[in-house]
Amino acid sequence: MKKHYITTPIYYVNDVPHIGHSYTTLAADTLARYRRLLGDEVFFLTGTDEHGQKIQKAAKQQGLSPKQLADRVVENFKKLWVKLDITNNYFIRTTNENHKKCVQEAFEYIYKKGDIYKGEYEGWYCIPCESYYSEIEIGEDKTCPVCGRKLDLVKEESYFFKLSAYQDRLLDFYNKHPDFVLPQSRYNEIKSFVNMGLKDLSITRTSFDWGIPVPFDDKHVIYVWFDALLNYVSAIGCKKGEFNSIWPADVHFVGKDILRFHAVYWPAFLMALDIELPKHVVAHGWWTVDGKKMSKSLGNVVDPNEMIEKYPRDAYRYFLLRNVPFGLDGDFSESELIERINSDLVNDFGNLLNRSLTMMEKYSGGIIERPEAIEDDTLSTSAKDTFDKVKKDLEVFRFDEALIDIFEYIRKVNKYITEKEPWSLKKAKKEDELKEVLYNIYAALKFISGVISPFLPDAASKMQKMLAIDKNHKIDFYLDFYNIEKATVKKEGMLFERIETEKSKEEKTEKKEEDKRISIDEFFNVKLKVAKVLEAESVEKSRKLLKLKIDIGEKKPRTLVAGLKEFYKPEELVGKYIIVVANLKPAKLMGIESNGMLLAAKDGENLALLTVEKPVKPGASIS
Ligand code: ME8
Ligand code: MG
Repeated sequence: MKKHYITTPIYYVNDVPHIGHSYTTLAADTLARYRRLLGDEVFFLTGTDEHGQKIQKAAKQQGLSPKQLADRVVENFKKLWVKLDITNNYFIRTTNENHKKCVQEAFEYIYKKGDIYKGEYEGWYCIPCESYYSEIEIGEDKTCPVCGRKLDLVKEESYFFKLSAYQDRLLDFYNKHPDFVLPQSRYNEIKSFVNMGLKDLSITRTSFDWGIPVPFDDKHVIYVWFDALLNYVSAIGCKKGEFNSIWPADVHFVGKDILRFHAVYWPAFLMALDIELPKHVVAHGWWTVDGKKMSKSLGNVVDPNEMIEKYPRDAYRYFLLRNVPFGLDGDFSESELIERINSDLVNDFGNLLNRSLTMMEKYSGGIIERPEAIEDDTLSTSAKDTFDKVKKDLEVFRFDEALIDIFEYIRKVNKYITEKEPWSLKKAKKEDELKEVLYNIYAALKFISGVISPFLPDAASKMQKMLAIDKNHKIDFYLDFYNIEKATVKKEGMLFERIETEKSKEEKTEKKEEDKRISIDEFFNVKLKVAKVLEAESVEKSRKLLKLKIDIGEKKPRTLVAGLKEFYKPEELVGKYIIVVANLKPAKLMGIESNGMLLAAKDGENLALLTVEKPVKPGASIS
């Protein structure tokens, strides 16, 4: 069986990894996990791009050799991928001997074929971007269309790749494979770029030496893109060994900044090498931070290490994949990350598991059993629908849509619980129905734990532990909705903790107030009556209390003790028609039994008794 081959760009080692790099790698990791869930064997590759003038320059600034710099920086990437639990099968460095050899072989192969030739190149060159730009692209002011910096007019002896000869073949290929470049808008962009005409590509340099030498002309080093792109082939054996069981690549994930290299140059190189072309090049958008371009000078570069120290790594992953339609630009803001955690991960997802397990433990000792017959299989049907949708979403790499669909299912299960009211079934002793409802919920949770595992791997495995199912099942297991006969669940902590912010604190207070609201029945449980004060006297030794005798329409007057001394003289009270709570249990105050409580308004300084507006019969009820 051919392995499913997924790649990320290989990142330059002149920079530390930031949110942008982690985004591409997390997307690729999610797809890799998803393909494994489907049962595919996956080869997932990432790595670092270590040659070129930019890196030579950066090393010099730090007083290091380029290789020393690469050896240091590569650790930042490797460590971050471990911390993020990235499941790559291999990590390629372009300074590996195998890679260098592969690049030289490829160069020679195309040279012998006649599609690489020696010539002289003059053009506008951007050193940081390692790219020449055409007159059309750079405009009047001769600045780089990508980074905006001043370009240099460079003239040098160079080997060229005959890109112009591939224009028609490329266009033909694009037409036959309309999903080669995704999203669609990017495909159109690439097609019209190639339609405008392709110039031959200078692919060697003599102006610096940190690179792979041309095998038969070591004055030249091979241009960084020819070198870098070949990593996808060198990492899997360079046409030998494992190569045939892995190639062609199924998905090259890239940022939109390097799409042209992957969707135009790369397929042309591969055609020249007589190697089959990859299936998809998928370009995502660009992350800004709080609306601004990320840059060292602005000091707003988001370090993924910091984020996953502050928040669960699943939450970071969820935010990146959920918040932006894959392909479009996105803006990173910590407050939105927190909002996503609190609303989606805590309220919807975490709460579903929590309330479900609580009920299972309370109503059936945590034991779930398959009922004889299932009356209501709506959760099973919509699980299948949900997975169909997720599958379609991921065929076009819409991670955001897939998550929306999964969370729609989560809300559906929450709704199922609210509608079925397992607590009422328990109260009414409808044991059979309760058993089925709990079993349906269990099966739904099992499904969620599977389908969500590529996106939230930590939460999924915590969940599976609580549900007492093994990890690493394939999707068929989760879709076989009623396949568990019996299980004992165990609640162990929460999936996600709420992150407190000013806003969420406010919401919490409001929620508390809401929770304290009572029903009309509860209100009418309190019997309020009109009472006429017959007598009033001070309670001795008490600073606050007065003792009243009241007529509440009963045979005998009642005694009532109230804290009125600071506000009323006893004689002021006699004859007043006041309101009392008539059905309170008696309470003893300073040794006197008080039967009831009177109503008064209080504002911190004043206290005023509630009275009726005109006399009514003592004992009249308040309605
Ligand atoms: O280009 N938003 O390496 P690189 C989104 N070595 N993604 C971003 C991003 C941002 N703000 N910043 C970086 C190179 N990325 C070459 C690649 S491949 C054969 C050679 C991600 O270190 C995105 O994937 O500049 C982008 O394409 C990549 O990092 C560029 O990484
Ligand atoms: Mg870059």
